[in-house]
Amino acid sequence: MAPRVTDEPMTEQTPVTHASAKIVPQLPDMQTVTEVKHFTDRLFSFRVTRPASLRFRSGEFVMIGLMGDEDPATGKRKPIMRAYSIASPSWDEELEFYSIKVQDGPLTSKLQHIQPGDGLILRPKPVGTLVHDALLPGKRLWFFATGTGFAPFASLLREPQTYEDYDEIVITHTCRELGELTYGRDLIEGLKTDELLNEVIGEGFWKKIKYYPTTTREDSPKMGRITDLMRSGEAFTDLGVPPLSPETDRAMICGNLAFNLELKEMLESYGLNEGANSNPQQYVVEKAFLD
Ligand SMILES: Cc1cc2nc3c(=O)[nH]c(=O)nc-3n(C[C@H](O)[C@H](O)[C@H](O)COP(=O)(O)OP(=O)(O)OC[C@H]3O[C@@H](n4cnc5c(N)ncnc54)[C@H](O)[C@@H]3O)c2cc1C
Ligand SMILES: NC(=O)c1ccc[n+]([C@@H]2O[C@H](COP(=O)([O-])OP(=O)(O)OC[C@H]3O[C@@H](n4cnc5c(N)ncnc54)[C@H](OP(=O)(O)O)[C@@H]3O)[C@@H](O)[C@H]2O)c1
Repeated sequence: MAPRVTDEPMTEQTPVTHASAKIVPQLPDMQTVTEVKHFTDRLFSFRVTRPASLRFRSGEFVMIGLMGDEDPATGKRKPIMRAYSIASPSWDEELEFYSIKVQDGPLTSKLQHIQPGDGLILRPKPVGTLVHDALLPGKRLWFFATGTGFAPFASLLREPQTYEDYDEIVITHTCRELGELTYGRDLIEGLKTDELLNEVIGEGFWKKIKYYPTTTREDSPKMGRITDLMRSGEAFTDLGVPPLSPETDRAMICGNLAFNLELKEMLESYGLNEGANSNPQQYVVEKAFLD
């Protein structure tokens, strides 16, 4: 499907084939939206075509964006680019993203209106620390997310290596409201019938997963911040696992800044050390958004 680029973005990169010819936008890094799903008035996911040359490790992020409005002074339009975790696994033919809608956000005020056939700018330079390579071998892998911080784990949960490397995967997802859990809950439920993973990893691989969704501002079966639930011991009792230990447990954290900092401190108190691509350790952390 050819990208539907509606306007005439004038950038330095726009080739003009002839002085009198109509300018045909040929933006580099342009991909085509193939599917859009809305979950709440603040959350949606979408899929786009994948550049043939793009290789990435499940859990990494890229820069994506759209053309901004015309600058009244110069008449030029510039791309508005933002970091986004790739929510699809490394083997997927397409790329999936899970996104917030910030009503006055430069990018997402526009991005929330995309439809199949539209163009999306994608810079094919994946990076990030939420990757298997940044962790030492262990038995139990924890994914700690708030809000859209679930996105990198949506990728890693569909990555065969996750189940090859670990006996148990614990996913905690803390959101304000129930509707904000839908994307993650549906994805985890869908793993049971994922033909490729069942074939590659073996039927029943999904039984390794322990899912622990909690809400903080709307009634749900489990209320509270994961940090508080761990401090009180309630989370460990509910999950039937002991508190984290550096010998057996590995963790990846992706949430707002305060959450990341609080959880880092807790994991350090359990004796886990922070790792990086260049220095694999027991846990890794990445911000779900800048603030
Ligand atoms: C490494 C990294 C990975 C990211 N991955 C994702 C992702 O997978 N999905 C995603 O939706 N966003 C992600 N973000 C945030 C993203 O880059 C943008 O900030 C977001 O798309 C909003 O863009 P904007 O231009 O509309 O508003 P911005 O001007 O970028 O943000 C405006 C305000 O909105 C709030 N905000 C921004 N992003 C979020 C969010 N995700 N959840 C809750 N509040 C937010 C913050 O208060 C921020 O100050 C990531 C950010 C980083 C640094
Ligand atoms: N979610 C909404 O319905 C909503 C609506 C309008 C605007 N916004 C704005 O959008 C921005 C992002 O909102 P968001 O809900 O996506 O993300 P968020 O504020 O980061 O909250 C996501 C979840 O993380 C929890 N949390 C926050 N700090 C934590 C910490 N230190 N330790 C453990 N858990 C923590 C929150 O619990 P608590 O509820 O206890 O904080 C909430 O359940 C905010 O600026 C917000 O004002 C959100």
